[in-house]
Amino acid sequence: MVERYVMSIDQGTNSTRCILFDHQGRLVTVAQREHQQHFPRPGWVEHDALEIWRNLRRVVPEALSDGGVAADEVAAIGIANQRETTVLWDRRTGTPVGRAIVWQDTRTAPLVDDLRERPGDEFFLERCGLPPSTYFSALRIRWLFDHDDGLRQRAQDGEVLFGTIESWLIWNLTGGADGGLHITDPTNASRTMLMNIRTLTWDTELLDFFGVPRPMLPEIRSSAETYGEARTLLPGVRITAALGDQQAALFGQTCFSPGEAKCTYGTGSFLLLNTGNEMVRSRHGLLTTVAYKIDDQPTVYALEGSIAVTGSLVQWFRDRLGLISSAPEIETLARTVEDNGGCYIVPAFSGLFAPRWRSDARGVIVGLTSYITSGHLARAVLEATGWQTREVVDAMNADSSVPLKELKVDGGMTADNLLMQFVADVLGVPVVRPMVAETVSLGAAYAAGLAAGYWSDLEVLRRNWHRAAQWLPDMDSAHREEEYDNWQRAVERSLGWIRPPGSR
Ligand SMILES: Nc1ncnc2c1ncn2[C@@H]1O[C@H](COP(=O)(O)OP(=O)(O)OP(=O)(O)O)[C@@H](O)[C@H]1O
Ligand SMILES: [Mg+2]
Repeated sequence: MVERYVMSIDQGTNSTRCILFDHQGRLVTVAQREHQQHFPRPGWVEHDALEIWRNLRRVVPEALSDGGVAADEVAAIGIANQRETTVLWDRRTGTPVGRAIVWQDTRTAPLVDDLRERPGDEFFLERCGLPPSTYFSALRIRWLFDHDDGLRQRAQDGEVLFGTIESWLIWNLTGGADGGLHITDPTNASRTMLMNIRTLTWDTELLDFFGVPRPMLPEIRSSAETYGEARTLLPGVRITAALGDQQAALFGQTCFSPGEAKCTYGTGSFLLLNTGNEMVRSRHGLLTTVAYKIDDQPTVYALEGSIAVTGSLVQWFRDRLGLISSAPEIETLARTVEDNGGCYIVPAFSGLFAPRWRSDARGVIVGLTSYITSGHLARAVLEATGWQTREVVDAMNADSSVPLKELKVDGGMTADNLLMQFVADVLGVPVVRPMVAETVSLGAAYAAGLAAGYWSDLEVLRRNWHRAAQWLPDMDSAHREEEYDNWQRAVERSLGWIRPPGSR
């Protein structure tokens, strides 16, 4: 059989997708399953890692049979995944130690406060490119150790393994307890606070600082290289790429040159700017992160503006408030009114990420009057995504010498025309979307296909990028600045809501 397709697995915050792509980068077939979100306490967010693995075992055969594709027609498998989410599991049984702690979870906020005091942000930024935040994995490992006697010892003895989701899936795909590969890639490892951002190796000082035993950590391999063969689901097919979902989207958007940027609008939204082989330190609240490392080529870095809550605010509006019954209805509802009626929502559900990094912030709705309808609230929901993007773009422009001229976008929220027009309006630059909106999956497929020789080079991939939609800025600048000012005043009101323990 000829190898006609590349398989991509996108293990996201809400669902697991399996997509097959052909040589032109066209989507051939997709299968998807959602998994449950657990919110056991305010600020806690958990997933069941076994449920995720079960879902993967279903979507892979579904994608193959829907597309009428045989396993031996698949050239390689690439994996993209929700980042930072922390799984600990037993090496002998393959059973997770409790539920996975998700990137949105804020239970480690008191630990973050301590770290910002001592040793301070600089200690961490220097080594891993990240400021202390509830967002990253290391503090979750520490939290788990602090809440389970004996767990650290078991980790020290190599009985308990740590991984982000790609490690968990690759370990299971390659044999699990029976010799499964325990590996990660630098894009994922760069989000743990444990990897040295220069050397791409586990940093001894950081490991000591967080008290994380080395035997529990995966081996850091390249983002694209042959890791090994799958032993289940697609036995014999090579797994040749792993990337954090946002870096995968940057790759799928073919942002291969320094200065190219994209923003992915999903559960949260993430703007990444390729900075080439140069590691740029942000002075305005962005993260320094690994964009990708292909085989033994030099590391490519990125600056990232991470926004925790965008699409998930729409989900909250739908599932928790019940004001709409499907995500696209947010646009219909927002269009029942002319403007926001003076109402702003700051969705600091997990504190605020870039560029502010405030774990003490919580969500607020301001400007409420008797005039406000659900339509105004719907507008405020969408506008929150626009303004948060603006803050991140401002930070990026302040950090780099060349201002952003155009924004490539992708992700589920880009189906919303009102929102995309608003993003173009508040940024004052064109917003463009490619034909394949599933850029996370496409990026994982591209990386896997490159490593497997299915595609020859980056130029071939670039030629697959085609524009499907464009939004041009069309907002009076005085009006824009006035609204931005209102937004910033709203944000001020979200800050400092969570008080340090013992401060009352
Ligand atoms: N028309 C719409 N308007 C606004 N938001 C929307 C619309 N359609 C979907 N969304 C939001 O987009 C998000 C889904 O986007 P996408 O499918 O890219 O995310 P995802 O990849 O599933 O997320 P994750 O990777 O975190 O699981 C949801 O949070 C949903 O609320
Ligand atoms: Mg996703």
